[in-house]
Amino acid sequence: MILSIRKYPDPVLQQPGEPVTEFDKTLRSFIGDMFETMYAAQGIGLAAPQVGVSKRITVIDLSGGKDPEQRLVLVNPEIVERSGRLYDEEGCLSFPEIREKVVRAATVKVRAQDEHGKWFEAEGEELLSRCMQHEIDHLDGILFIFRISGLKRDLALRKIRKLQRAGEW
Ligand code: NI
Repeated sequence: MILSIRKYPDPVLQQPGEPVTEFDKTLRSFIGDMFETMYAAQGIGLAAPQVGVSKRITVIDLSGGKDPEQRLVLVNPEIVERSGRLYDEEGCLSFPEIREKVVRAATVKVRAQDEHGKWFEAEGEELLSRCMQHEIDHLDGILFIFRISGLKRDLALRKIRKLQRAGEW
C-alpha cells in the first residue's frame, strides 16, 4: 500500500520518533509499505515520520528497487562511528523541488535492528553514508534544511511559501 508522504511543515516531521519494541507482522507489513511508497516517489530513503508514523524506522535503497541486495531496513538505528567530511547536494521527499548542499560525515557505521529485531552493523560511504545520516536525522526530528546556513534556509523557506501560495506544495 502506498502511504501519503508528509511535507514540511507537518509537525510530525520535527518530532523525535519512539523506539520500536514489537517486531511483529504489523511492523513488517508497514516496512513493506514504506519501500513501496519510497519506490513510487522515486526516493532512495524514507523515514517513518515522513508517512506520519513517529517511530524509529527507516528504509534505504540506493538502487531504487532494481537490486534487492541494496534494500536496507534500519530499526532503532544509532550512528556508532563517523569519519571524514563531504559537502554535497541532497534532497528530501518531504521537500519536493528543494535541493541543498549539506555537510555530512564521509563514512559512518550504524548499529540497528532489522525487521525481525536482530541487531547488526552496517557501514556506509559517500551517498549511502549521506543517506543514512539524513534518514537517522529524520528519526530525531531533524530536517536537512536545519543543517544549512540561516541565509540559505530563509531562501528555501521563501521558495516553499511561494509554492504553497501557488497551491503547488
Ligand atoms: Ni528526507
